[in-house]
Parts: sequence; structure tokens; C-alpha cells
Amino acid sequence: MMNHSQSTGADYNYTIVRQFALTTVLWGIVGMAVGVLIAAQLIWPQLNFETPWLTFSRLRPLHTNAVIFAFGTSALFATSYYVVQRTCQIRLFAPKLAAFTFWGWQAVIIAAAITLPMGYTQGKEYAELEWPIDIAITIIWVSYAIVFFGTIAKRTTSHIYVANWFFGAFIITVAVLHIVNSMAVPVSLFKSYSLYSGAVDAMVQWWYGHNAVGFLLTAGFLGMMYYFVPKQAGRPVYSYRLSIVHFWALIALYIWAGPHHLHYTALPDWTQSLGMVMSLILFAPSWGGMINGIMTLSGAWHKLRTDPVLRFLVVSLSFYGMSTFEGPMMAIKTVNALSHYTDWTVGHVHSGALGWVAMVSIGSLYHLVPVLFGHGRMYSTSLVNVHFWLATIGTVLYIVSMWISGVMQGLMWRAVNSDGTLTYSFVESLEASYPFYFVRFLGGCFFLTGMLIMAYNVLRTVKAPKESLPALAEA
Ligand code: HEM
Ligand code: HEM
Repeated sequence: MMNHSQSTGADYNYTIVRQFALTTVLWGIVGMAVGVLIAAQLIWPQLNFETPWLTFSRLRPLHTNAVIFAFGTSALFATSYYVVQRTCQIRLFAPKLAAFTFWGWQAVIIAAAITLPMGYTQGKEYAELEWPIDIAITIIWVSYAIVFFGTIAKRTTSHIYVANWFFGAFIITVAVLHIVNSMAVPVSLFKSYSLYSGAVDAMVQWWYGHNAVGFLLTAGFLGMMYYFVPKQAGRPVYSYRLSIVHFWALIALYIWAGPHHLHYTALPDWTQSLGMVMSLILFAPSWGGMINGIMTLSGAWHKLRTDPVLRFLVVSLSFYGMSTFEGPMMAIKTVNALSHYTDWTVGHVHSGALGWVAMVSIGSLYHLVPVLFGHGRMYSTSLVNVHFWLATIGTVLYIVSMWISGVMQGLMWRAVNSDGTLTYSFVESLEASYPFYFVRFLGGCFFLTGMLIMAYNVLRTVKAPKESLPALAEA
């Protein structure tokens, strides 16, 4: 994959990549700022100012939609459009359709940012947006698929690089998930009812929810990892064979694991056990990807001392490894009996979301932005380093505090006295959680500050005269 790196890029469509790269930073800041606000509201509820659209219940879905679909998905659009052109050595197929995906996606984000605080929701987690927006998403996503697979079809290389396999699986599966889970009967412009009901509705919803994690938050970002880690390390992928094996294993297994979100519910018991077993097996292909990424650094470990961009990428892989060890453990029914409904889940989510998804995106963007704007490096490498530490410390503060409060909550809720009555009331467990909510809030502030520094660094890089920032000599 290295010989095309000599290409100047003059013949590639970088406009769309630049647009998505810059909006990734913008939406990252917005989504995380809302995250910090809702984290603060859990400590100081008066921060909703008694205004309906500022309440936790409306801002929480705004946060999840903004970070997953505005920040994370923009990063995936930017990197997939970049990687598919570079590795297929051809300009993007259907440039007008590509431009449509950018403007269309921004319109969807704005529509979400207006309707969610207004309280319009389908009430399905990560699929809250009402039916007209769902239809718009479908049209944009199909256009995305046409641009991406059209480029692959027109490629001048004989081989399809493994990053594109991951991006391709992400694009196809998200389309299927979104269309099936969003099936609804509209009753007005802003209200619809799901086509499914009862336990079937719950099952379809978490088939969607878990595979949004598996294919959007995992497969898509693995595609990113398979291009940017070897590039930044200056080494070929450790094992190409492993990448293919874990690709097929990952996509074959993820699709079955959804029921682990519905343990001890009205779902048939055998489906819960199936979900649990598939989740346990999922550990193997997940670690296959993590090991392959980390081992790509063989012979390049010394670069970590001087290259904070590589550090972002390697630490993201470590968090990916951690969260995909923790996930299968939490999928065991007896463990889930303790973790479910507690902050442990929220800690697990953010070890994947901040540690893996955000860190790998940030590292990739620090590689990408200088290339897109004709430079050899970012405006300030020391600011990248500051960002790295703020992000790492922020993530650790967040997830450690949530682990402690989660396990504590689980234990307090199940504690019983000898006469069978509950030892603690719910309010007592809530009071005990406050110090940890404060630590989580601090962690969020760290992470957000890092993003603001990134925005400054990116703007200075964009504005610097062309080629005025040459690559640093290797240590
Ligand atoms: C500054 C950084 C962030 C802060 C302070 C933050 C804060 C929060 C808070 C307070 C919640 C609600 C927890 C609860 O209901 O008890 C939450 C939920 C969530 N956040 Fe974040 N967040 C941040 C970044 C992110 C990022 C980057 C992602 C994804 C890429 C993300 C994904 C999620 C998800 C999926 C949930 C729902 C979790 C669940 O239902 O279990 N967050 N976040
Ligand atoms: C082998 C991989 C993984 C497995 C088996 C797994 C398993 C689990 C389990 C058992 C839960 C708790 C369900 C509950 O009690 O409600 C959960 C929640 C969650 N996980 Fe994972 N996880 C994995 C990897 C990841 C990664 C890498 C991310 C993020 C990038 C992630 C994001 C989430 C989210 C967002 C939720 C919360 C869903 C909700 O209730 O809203 N997971 N996962």
C-alpha cells in the first residue's frame, strides 16, 4: 500500500474530504459540549433553568446523536472518501453526488439539533429522529454507497485494500439497520408509530443498536485504523491475513449479539443466551483487530517518543482492546445482573466512545489535515501533545469514575437485610454517586478543552501559507 503514497493528490477530490474533516472538529465540540452540560446537570439539576428544551431528557439524545452521527460519522465520511481514492488510485466517483452527501448530512444534523430539543422523538435509542428525517438519511446513505462503491468499481488497482472492506461493510450494514429499524407508520409530520410492537420491537431496536456499535462505531473506525496506523507508523500492516480473517469473523458474529442489551426481559430466554455466547466469541475477532493494529508498530515503537499523532492512534487501540474485553464480560448474564441500569454501562460506552472512537478519529485527522491543506505537519506539534494528554486523562477520569459508581450502585441496589428488606433506598445510592459524577464532569471538561485546542491548531494549519509547515525530521 505504500507506493501510492508518492502521489501528489492533485488529481483527487479533496474538497469533500476537507469539508467533512473540518465539520468533524466543529460537531465534535458541539456534541461534547452538550455532553459536559448534561454531565453537569446530573450534579446540578437546576442547570436546566426550568426550560423544557434544556432538560436532561431532551439534551441527552441531542448529545448521543451529535457525537455519533455528526462527529463520528463526519469523521467516517472524511476518511472513507480519502482512503478509497488513495487506495484505489482514482478520483471519487460521482462528485456531485458526493457533494450532495455533505450538504444533505449537514441538513440532517441541523434538523436533529432543532427537533430533538423540541421533544420530537420516536423514543428508540440512537434512532430517535422522526420519519421525515429518517427518509432523508436513507437517501443520503444510498448516495454515499453509490459514491463509495462506484469509486471501488472504477479503481485502477487490482486489489481492494482491507480498509475499504471495513468501510464497505459499515456503509451497507448501516443502511440495512437504519431502514429496518425505522419502519414506522406516520400519523402526522412529526409523529409516527413503529411497525413493530412489544418484544419484537425491543429485539429489532437492539439488533439495530448493537450493530450501530458493531458496524458504525467499530467496523468503520477499524477501516480508519487500517489506513492511518500503517501510514503514521510508516510500516505495513502487521498481518494482512489476520486482517481478512478477523474482518469476516467480526461481521459474522456482531449481527447476533444484540440480545445482550435485553437480558432478563420478556425476550425468549434462548435468544438472550445466544446473544451472550455470540458476545463472548466476539472477543476474539475484536482483539484480532487490536493486536494487528498495535503490532503494526513493530520496529517503529521509538516513534511514539516524538510523535503524539501516533500516540493518539496507539492509545485508541488500547481502549478498543479494553472496551471489547469489558463488553463480552458484561454480556454474561450474571455480570449483567449487576451492571445493567448502572453507570458501569455508561463507563463502558465512553471507554469505547472517547477512548476508541474519538481518539482514533482525532489521530487520523491530525494526519489528514496537513495533507489536505498542503503541509507536512500540523501548525503546532506541542499542542497536539497537550491535546493527547488532555484526552487521555479526560477519558481515564470519565471511565474510572463510572466504573466505581456503577459497581457501587449495583451492589447497593441488591443489598438486602436479614429480614429481606432493602438495605439502601434509591436516593442513598444517588447521593453516593455525586462525587463520581463530579469526577466524570471534570473528565469531560478535560476532553472538551483538548478539542478546543485542536480547533485552534487546525485553523492555524488551514490558514498557514502552503508548504510553510514542512514535516519534522525523524528522531
Ligand atoms: C466531553 C466528552 C463527553 C461527555 C462529558 C459525555 C457525557 C455523557 C453523559 C453525562 C451521558 C449520559 C449518561 C447517563 O444517562 O447517565 C452520556 C451518554 C452517552 N454518550 Fe457521552 N459524553 C462525552 C463524549 C461522548 C462521545 C465522543 C461519544 C461517542 C462517540 C459519546 C457517546 C455517548 C453515548 C452512546 C451515550 C449513551 C450511553 C448509554 O445509553 O448507556 N459520548 N455522555
Ligand atoms: C466485543 C465487543 C463488545 C461487546 C460484546 C459489548 C457488549 C456490551 C454490553 C453487554 C452492554 C450492556 C448492555 C446493557 O446491560 O444494557 C454494552 C453496552 C454498550 N456498548 Fe458495548 N460491547 C462491545 C464493544 C463496544 C464498543 C467498542 C463500543 C463503542 C465504541 C460499545 C458501545 C456500547 C454502547 C453505546 C452501549 C450502551 C447501549 C445502551 O444501553 O444505550 N461497545 N455493550
